[in-house]
Amino acid sequence: MRDKLKSFFTEHWKYMAVSTACKLNLFDNLQEQKTAKQLATELSLNEEKLLLLLNALHNADFLGKNDDFFKVNSLSELLTENNPESLKYACLNWSSEHLNAWQNLDFSIKTGNSSFENIYKKPFFDFLNENPDKLHAYHKAMYQYAKDDYKTLPNVIDFSNHKSVMDVGGGYGAVLENIKAKYPIVECILFDLPKVIEKVTIPYIQKISGNFFEKIPSQSEAIVLSRVLHDWNDEKANNILKNCFEALPSNGTLYVIENCTDKIKIDLSLLSLNMTAMCQSYERTSTQYILLCKNAGFQFDSETKLNELQTILIFKK
Ligand SMILES: C[S@@+](CC[C@H](N)C(=O)[O-])C[C@H]1O[C@@H](n2cnc3c(N)ncnc32)[C@H](O)[C@@H]1O
Repeated sequence: MRDKLKSFFTEHWKYMAVSTACKLNLFDNLQEQKTAKQLATELSLNEEKLLLLLNALHNADFLGKNDDFFKVNSLSELLTENNPESLKYACLNWSSEHLNAWQNLDFSIKTGNSSFENIYKKPFFDFLNENPDKLHAYHKAMYQYAKDDYKTLPNVIDFSNHKSVMDVGGGYGAVLENIKAKYPIVECILFDLPKVIEKVTIPYIQKISGNFFEKIPSQSEAIVLSRVLHDWNDEKANNILKNCFEALPSNGTLYVIENCTDKIKIDLSLLSLNMTAMCQSYERTSTQYILLCKNAGFQFDSETKLNELQTILIFKK
């Protein structure tokens, strides 16, 4: 028991070693085998300390090793920049500010408020908006997750029922990319903050920038709100939903995609703590989401599972 506990205390070191390797682009630079000396020279790093890190990564099964040469393996291949299945930015996402927020979780437990906001003196999305590199890295991370998470969305929902669909808070557009691939005739509109929209390069979709707390344009028969409401407390979530209601035509459809805690076998308390620490929000039950949407004027229509974690709640105006 004591030994199990002692190793548990430092389990995060392995993640820290891997995320540091991503931060220093080590995996990108080890697609051909190299010694620590070669890599240290190329990247201007301290050779002795780099060797420690490379050996740690090898022992954690993140690097192959042959004599003094290190090389990426099938796992760390997935943490290189240009791999089509890359999770490099998803990996980096949980370091830096997220870790700082978790380190101050006691503040959130005492006050119920966001420890991120207490440290950085502004809400998370305002912070991102003021730090272009972090904003870009965050959205690349979201996109890398989204590519897997929304793969089946066009099979689960028949979007051909709509002439147009707007993804509100759609980030770099993974949801719409999937919808457009199966339903090329459906007009797809991406709505997000200006600094996000200006970075989106995917073709065949209309891009509109704005602030969902102020106004959402009336441009579509349906709105998708995916992993948006869980970022906000009830008051802010209600503000977004009211603007969605205003934007939709009568009989318009709202699709809310979230991890509903009552629809999942695994416990989401840790994710909820993360949302509290970062955004002063939490993961809700489907009943709580339905109540939020009803309070904004919507009628609940039906629900369906998207994947193991996410549920789609469908509402009508
Ligand atoms: C957790 S991400 C979800 C992204 C995407 N929908 C997904 O499921 O991967 C939340 C999104 O809300 C956007 N967002 C945050 N504040 C916003 C605002 N005030 N107006 C419009 N979009 C906003 C962010 O830029 C981000 O794209």
